[in-house]
Amino acid sequence: MAIQWFPGHMHLTQKAIQERIKNIDVVIELLDARLPGSSANPLLSTLTAGRLALKVLNKQDLADPERTAQWLTHYNAQSGTRAIGLDASVSTPAKALIKACFELAPQRGGMVKPMRVLICGIPNVGKSTLINTLTGKRATKTGDEAGITKLEQRIALADDFYLYDTPGVLWPRIIVAKSGYNLAASGAIGRNAFNEEEVALELLNYLKTHYATLLEARYKLDPIANLQDEELLEAIGRKRGALQSGKGVNLQKAAEIVIYDFRAAALGRITLETPAEFAEWLAAGQKLDAQRQVKKDAIELDRAIRFKKIAKPDQRRSSRSEHG
Ligand code: G4P
Repeated sequence: MAIQWFPGHMHLTQKAIQERIKNIDVVIELLDARLPGSSANPLLSTLTAGRLALKVLNKQDLADPERTAQWLTHYNAQSGTRAIGLDASVSTPAKALIKACFELAPQRGGMVKPMRVLICGIPNVGKSTLINTLTGKRATKTGDEAGITKLEQRIALADDFYLYDTPGVLWPRIIVAKSGYNLAASGAIGRNAFNEEEVALELLNYLKTHYATLLEARYKLDPIANLQDEELLEAIGRKRGALQSGKGVNLQKAAEIVIYDFRAAALGRITLETPAEFAEWLAAGQKLDAQRQVKKDAIELDRAIRFKKIAKPDQRRSSRSEHG
């Protein structure tokens, strides 16, 4: 799928994180509990390598609780990492965040060594909502001002606990194809940057295998196991009256219904990936990306040779042996 969003404030954010990270004790990464692997920014792990990490699986009210438990176990098994689940209904999220951070960095605390925490997360993961609850007011989104004068805001959660906010950004190139679809389904990617029908078909393909009963119940369908993805989308469109005159089902409309229902958890609580699945997708994506890079390098080398920038490898070899 061609995802074509503009990376936005990515470079500025990257610089702000690089600057701030020097004096940070714990990095909180807000993840979407429905897609923890796909909503983790791969650039962030490079920028914050070696730092203590708190993974917050946010919007847990929308996610499959069994799978949230699997992800929490997965992250809590990693050294220097803790993970907690959270959602907007938790009225005192500060308590949970403060507790988890002091568990990670017990040596911090007090006015001399206050806890300094950086909070990061992709767009739409619920960061503004969380920060509004933390501050008890309606804060603007960090970096939303014209000209992005304010890249960072500091919030004191306690006398010895400072939280530094960063703007929500996506990374420019997604190498795990499934992550692109999951991010689009979740609402993290602007609707002009993806094809709804394609995203709905991918979503249905996954739901058919893992959450068939929820689909059957929501759309009052007969068992769907033998349906192709397109047939399933059509059946849903028909059930929901997404029709166009004389031409059968309006697939675009049907796709929008499926995506909307998933986002609103109208199908039920769903998580689109397990730690094991995501690890597999990541390995496959990295392999493909490496192959792509080899091809790209070969094309560039060929172009350089054709434009006589450098000698052909065999010419270089023979010229070396002549001189040797
Ligand atoms: P951001 O700053 O990370 O970009 O996200 P923001 O807080 O603006 O939240 C994005 C959407 O997610 C909002 O919905 C918000 O209400 C919802 N949201 C945030 N936290 C939770 C949560 O824990 N559970 C659930 N169910 N929803 C949450 P919205 O106002 O309807 O915006 P939109 O999604 O229509 O753009």
